[in-house]
Amino acid sequence: MGIIYFDNAATSWPKPPEVSAAMQKYMRKIGANPGRSGHRLSVDAARIIYDTREKLAQLFNVVDPIRIVLTKNATEALNIAILGFLKPGDHVITSSMEHNSVMRPLRAMEARGVGITIIPCDKAGLIDPADIASAIKKDTRAIFITHASNVTGGGMPVSDIGRIAREHGLVLCVDAAQTAGSYPIDVTEMNIDLLAFTGHKSLFGPSGTGGLYIREGLEKSIGPLCIGGTGSRSEVEEQPDFMPDRYEAGTPNIVGITGLQAGVDFVLSTGIDQIKSKEDSLVKTFIEGIENLPGIIIYGQMSIGRRIPVVSFNIAGMDPAVVALELDERFKIMSRSGLHCAPSAHKTIGTYSMGTVRFSFSCFNTQEQVVRAVEALKKISRRRK
Ligand code: ALA
Repeated sequence: MGIIYFDNAATSWPKPPEVSAAMQKYMRKIGANPGRSGHRLSVDAARIIYDTREKLAQLFNVVDPIRIVLTKNATEALNIAILGFLKPGDHVITSSMEHNSVMRPLRAMEARGVGITIIPCDKAGLIDPADIASAIKKDTRAIFITHASNVTGGGMPVSDIGRIAREHGLVLCVDAAQTAGSYPIDVTEMNIDLLAFTGHKSLFGPSGTGGLYIREGLEKSIGPLCIGGTGSRSEVEEQPDFMPDRYEAGTPNIVGITGLQAGVDFVLSTGIDQIKSKEDSLVKTFIEGIENLPGIIIYGQMSIGRRIPVVSFNIAGMDPAVVALELDERFKIMSRSGLHCAPSAHKTIGTYSMGTVRFSFSCFNTQEQVVRAVEALKKISRRRK
């Protein structure tokens, strides 16, 4: 029996074959530094980057592709948004379901005089947008919210939060690490000002890729994290202030971006609806298969339409790390256990400090794999104390 990979929220695997093919083609046939030299290979490399930005813009309904900064991951994008935007005396609002990629930069800014209100979510990890509205003060500048929790899979009401942000003139920054590519995102309709995403999860690119959408004009209020050569305005020693060069110093991860381009191509040509419907059906089969097993506790909201393909669970009386190890060693099922870099989320749903076992599916998983996992959990749960 082959390996079953249910750790797609950590990084997706397998990738569409076009991803590694494109990366190999770049290494064999192009190889040049984009935007630095004038020769044809450098132009070809620059075209890949431009095309990747265009495809991402199409996916997120961004009118002008230059509003998308390419970064090495969602964490770097969030660091630009948080460290680059906030200043002492600002107040921000976030949720108790955030990943450390939001929490840690916010805590670092708290130490520099930024006020933070963390809205407690309910036991299912859901937020009431009215609590966000009530937390707004006169010095509130921004709301930082995950689009969907990497622990429970629950989607946040980003459109409602976007309306609140717009009404109060606040910047809305959305962490789309878990949703970009598997859940519809429309920055215009959802009033999103900053959208941080990773390339290596549901966009099927390689690790070392990601990006940040910045709403037009907002770059004037966001400083870059990294300063240096951009291939543009080489005559001046100051960082260019225009998009996206302001935030893209140094030779980019062009091999990675080439893979990301192919991954986004796959998502666009398959269609988010198609991808989501396949993943929803895997989640449904899994939840229905395990919900009545003795000792099983499933966390988060159960309604399929409002979640991503991430399911956290425990078997009462069993350490999640032991369950995950047995899934791997005995059944060749790869999952992730523990806190998933989101301790506050686990405090919210009541699973701190052991955490949960987390299964995360992709459209490359099959119903048969899910059924095999349900059978494995039946066997494991029979042994519980
Ligand atoms: N943030 C990633 C996860 O949830 C790595 O596993």
